[in-house]
Amino acid sequence: MFDKAGLSDAAHYPYELGWIFVEERFRRMGMAGALTTCLVHGLEEWPVYASSRTNNKGMHKALVNAGFRQVGQHYPGRRTGEEFQVFLKPAG
Ligand SMILES: CC(C)(COP(=O)(O)OP(=O)(O)OC[C@H]1O[C@@H](n2cnc3c(N)ncnc32)[C@H](O)[C@@H]1OP(=O)(O)O)[C@@H](O)C(=O)NCCC(=O)NCCS
Repeated sequence: MFDKAGLSDAAHYPYELGWIFVEERFRRMGMAGALTTCLVHGLEEWPVYASSRTNNKGMHKALVNAGFRQVGQHYPGRRTGEEFQVFLKPAG
């Protein structure tokens, strides 16, 4: 993923914030935001990475609100037309 996004520092990011799924009836209530913030709580001194489809505005907001920033270039997913981007939360 780091290579595909044109990033070279994978070794500096030991933790990935993986797949978050909120059941449809509970969406837009702040669940993903709260989960993302909880998951990185205690990892302030550690870098963390995540990836998300480029059109997933809700997940992007949740990540940015928790201290992540979008980096690198978009890269294609397994499905036709699908594109992803990497987010990093630096240490400290
Ligand atoms: C993406 C997903 C996890 C978001 O969950 P959620 O609980 O609805 O998100 P939240 O309510 O915490 O919203 C976070 C922010 O994004 C905004 N937002 C949520 N869904 C949005 C959407 N579809 N379009 C634009 N903004 C959106 C919210 O208003 C909130 O903004 P704020 O911080 O300014 O208040 C949920 O839609 C989901 O489970 N989707 C399917 C699985 C998926 O794509 N997971 C992510 C894989 S990386």
